Amino acid sequence: MNNKIVRMKVLVTGAAGFIGYHLCINLLNANHSVVGLDNLNDYYDPNLKLARLKQLGIQEQCLSENVLYNSSLPTKNFKFIKLNLEDREHLPILFQNEKFDIVVNLAAQAGVRYSIENPFVYAESNVMGFLNILECCRNNNIEKLIFASSSSVYGLNEKIPFSTNDNVDHPISLYAATKKSNELMAHTYSHLYGIKTIGLRFFTVYGPWGRPDMAMFLFTDAVLNNKPIKVFNNGNLSRDFTYVDDIINGIISIINKFDSINFEDSNYKIYNIGNNKPVKLLEFITEIEKTTGITAQKEMMPMQAGDVESTWADIDNLIADFDYEPKTNISEGVASFIEWYKEYYKKN
Ligand SMILES: NC(=O)c1ccc[n+]([C@@H]2O[C@H](COP(=O)([O-])OP(=O)(O)OC[C@H]3O[C@@H](n4cnc5c(N)ncnc54)[C@H](O)[C@@H]3O)[C@@H](O)[C@H]2O)c1
Repeated sequence: MNNKIVRMKVLVTGAAGFIGYHLCINLLNANHSVVGLDNLNDYYDPNLKLARLKQLGIQEQCLSENVLYNSSLPTKNFKFIKLNLEDREHLPILFQNEKFDIVVNLAAQAGVRYSIENPFVYAESNVMGFLNILECCRNNNIEKLIFASSSSVYGLNEKIPFSTNDNVDHPISLYAATKKSNELMAHTYSHLYGIKTIGLRFFTVYGPWGRPDMAMFLFTDAVLNNKPIKVFNNGNLSRDFTYVDDIINGIISIINKFDSINFEDSNYKIYNIGNNKPVKLLEFITEIEKTTGITAQKEMMPMQAGDVESTWADIDNLIADFDYEPKTNISEGVASFIEWYKEYYKKN
């Protein structure tokens, strides 16, 4: 594979989100130029999204809708726009004006459990929003598209580790169903319009600046505040926890090597991006206890609707094609999350 890195103009949607923020920082450090988009919704505390944007040189007081702002940090070739993915008036204008080399779609309504209570927002952001992205790619001759899928598409799959060759026709949450829909929609557009497209099935991403609705954050927050943690399925769960830097290194490798990817006879590829080392939930809690020095108050709960018992990524294809190598073990990852959490929330 040819490893010469070409400087690109990248659209990152979901830029104020957990993974999007880390991706923007790392793309800028790798000398790419980045436009970030996010609607800054209140699914979780928007102040965390604003704080991430501040790190990128975007201040809260200049965040009118549909206005493209420049980063105040002279070292950062970053612009930000507050915009809905499903905005069919303004998204096409952004694409026409900015002429992106590559689009990375991370914006989505995330979360398995929330999709039980709020199904329509998943259809709006994840289906209509993604269709708008695909249409803008089509109409602006975008040749490269990467989009976020999820390990949740494996649903009731019992064969482990989960392989991209496995059948994924049995999702068990609307969130998973919208992610599987994204894969089908992306395949269609890549076939019809020649957009070279890569879907990434993320496996439980955690790390600094992480999402407040996810176990890493919820457990740490509860333990440090002497509150009980809810341990679902009586702790009989395991997750292929993947540290955010490993995820980002994987995405950056794909972006940098995009031109030399062998798409064989289609324009579409799907990869798992995980750690390939599932961790039992109770071991995960033990790591939090070790790092904080506090014993968790565990409240054992039944299995939750929409959840799966275990996830485990087969990452052989990503290793073969991009030399992907997750490097962060769970102890290191948990320690660096807790260090960030304490600093951010000023906890001792
Ligand atoms: N974090 C994980 O473990 C994980 C696992 C599997 C898949 N994913 C997927 O990866 C992507 C990024 O996840 P994350 O953990 O960073 O989540 P996140 O919620 O922190 O980031 C998503 C961002 O998208 C924005 N957004 C949502 N709907 C939007 C819309 N309609 N228009 C514009 N912006 C919108 C949100 O404001 C948010 O800032 C998502 O697509 C998610 O489904 C994440």
